[in-house]
Amino acid sequence: MAAQRKKTVILAYSGGLDTSVAIKWIPEKYNMDVITVTIDLGAVKDLEGIRQKALKIGAKKAIVVDAKETFVKYFIFPALQAGALYEGVYPLATALGRPLIAKLLADVALEEKADAVAHGCTGKGNDQVRLDVSLQVLNPKLEIIAPVREWKMTRDEEIEYAEQHHIPVEAKIKSPYSTDENLWGRSIECGILEDPWAEPPEEVYKWTKSVKDAPQEPQYIEIRFEKGVPVALNDEETDGITLINTLNAWGGKHGVGRIDHLENRLVGIKSREVYEAPAAIILHTAHRALEGMIMTKDALRFKDIVSAHYADLIYNGLWFSAFHQDLVAYVLSSQRILSGTVRIRLSKGTCTVVGRKSPLSLYSEKLATYQKEDTFDHSAALGFIKIYGLPVKTQAQKQMDILTGREALHLESIMPPKVKSIDK
Ligand code: ARG
Repeated sequence: MAAQRKKTVILAYSGGLDTSVAIKWIPEKYNMDVITVTIDLGAVKDLEGIRQKALKIGAKKAIVVDAKETFVKYFIFPALQAGALYEGVYPLATALGRPLIAKLLADVALEEKADAVAHGCTGKGNDQVRLDVSLQVLNPKLEIIAPVREWKMTRDEEIEYAEQHHIPVEAKIKSPYSTDENLWGRSIECGILEDPWAEPPEEVYKWTKSVKDAPQEPQYIEIRFEKGVPVALNDEETDGITLINTLNAWGGKHGVGRIDHLENRLVGIKSREVYEAPAAIILHTAHRALEGMIMTKDALRFKDIVSAHYADLIYNGLWFSAFHQDLVAYVLSSQRILSGTVRIRLSKGTCTVVGRKSPLSLYSEKLATYQKEDTFDHSAALGFIKIYGLPVKTQAQKQMDILTGREALHLESIMPPKVKSIDK
């Protein structure tokens, strides 16, 4: 009988302690060859260094992927167009990266004829759900190994394991915080942040200045959108990666983009999360302001509903779903008209819209003005009010006694008591 072929696993490798230990631990436990994939979504500083480290620890092959452009085009900008802010505040940097990581793992697994994929997620967070669910959709045949979820080692035991196996342990793992970062933002949790009453200490922030250290002078910027996608900064056409990096730097300098969120995790836990996302906050603010000028009131109300669903869907790991396609169809349709420019002031931790313009604007100065150029038909207002108010006027005539009488005591807040005259 032919010897059984040794299995291969594709490990998502960040270069950090957990996944470095996994390079040794998986072969011990599962007798598989490890191929690492290190994916740059905008935060990996030394791809080649990480690649070499993987090989040194014992990976059979180490692959690196620069996925920044794909991340911007297929994940970040669509989420911006959708107005996706989880629970109204979190721009979803970490959450948006996971389906792309899953896709790259599945692609490499196919190429390398691998049997399994592995990642360094714990058994308590959202990320394991996002990766596993996405992988199950993309290739249900792949076995999924999550060493950190399985090995039940404490941090200290892990460090001991690393030392025994000659895996380099960097000083920075002593940090009490767990962080994750990519182009769209930086997520920070654990340590003192687990006390929701404690103000995040300055040391958790890496991208943003504190308001106290931000410049006195405000900075004005102009962002031009085409079909809901930002294409130019201060009138200069800019590729997505540069645009986001630039806004992260500008916003960070002015202390813009810090988010402190008590968040509802998919796995049922409430968790205190701190984020830095200057570019995301600036772009969402500007994008929404442009929508406010170009879309009708009904469309704006409906877009809010879509945005909330879209954000939930990304957060909850359902990127590869038909419902997502349905929402994208609506979002893209809504963005056909979304072209124009927004002017933003960055100052002392604030990001304020101070101007907007668009050839497709629904705002009409002639209709809005109180000056003599006014073209609004004031006399038409009378007829409008008559018909618009008809239902409540009729109701008052027929039902006022009940609405304000003894039977409505529990509803009296709609009718304030008679104001006492001060004119004695
Ligand atoms: N709570 C965020 C999310 O679920 C961020 C998780 C970040 N992970 C980390 N290791 N800090 O998307």
